[in-house]
Amino acid sequence: MNILLDAETIQARVKELAAEIEAAYPGTDEIHLVGVLKGGFMFMADLVRAMGPRVTLDFIAVSSYAQSTRSSGEVRLLKDLDTGLEGRRVVIVEDIVDTGLTLTYLQDILRARSPKSLRTACLLSKPSRRTVDVIVEHIGFSIEDKFVVGYGLDFAEKYRNLPYIAVLDGE
Ligand code: IMP
Repeated sequence: MNILLDAETIQARVKELAAEIEAAYPGTDEIHLVGVLKGGFMFMADLVRAMGPRVTLDFIAVSSYAQSTRSSGEVRLLKDLDTGLEGRRVVIVEDIVDTGLTLTYLQDILRARSPKSLRTACLLSKPSRRTVDVIVEHIGFSIEDKFVVGYGLDFAEKYRNLPYIAVLDGE
């Protein structure tokens, strides 16, 4: 496996993203982060620790991939949020935006719950793979079209625990 982004580089960028998100929502309003399981769990954990006391959080789980490295284009809601979003300032926290199908689905269902505002933060983006135009206000790193694992991202449920992001062998 080749390391693409080491742990230090990721940590430094996550701190910057935390500051960006807080700056986007000036004032004292609560900022409600919606983490997308499972891939977004590590990014979420580091992001909230870099943010101030205005943060609340919840998780949603979707599945867009079978045990393959390419999207089937099908998105399923596996676990819904515990609380409503009406009138809240919401930020979706996702690991990676690839084709954009998963995020488009998530933004649509969350927007329908009438948040005061809805933004999206993705640690990684693969712009060359996009098939739908999706707006992501906060992007950690734009990367090439390589299948990556680590820092929450898996291949067949493995490698999520790596503190860095690596390109899977053979890619
Ligand atoms: P999209 O719907 O094609 O944008 O895919 C988004 C989802 O696919 C992400 O939330 C990831 O779970 C998964 N995914 C996309 N690219 C990768 C990758 O390189 N490694 C691991 N998972 C990926």
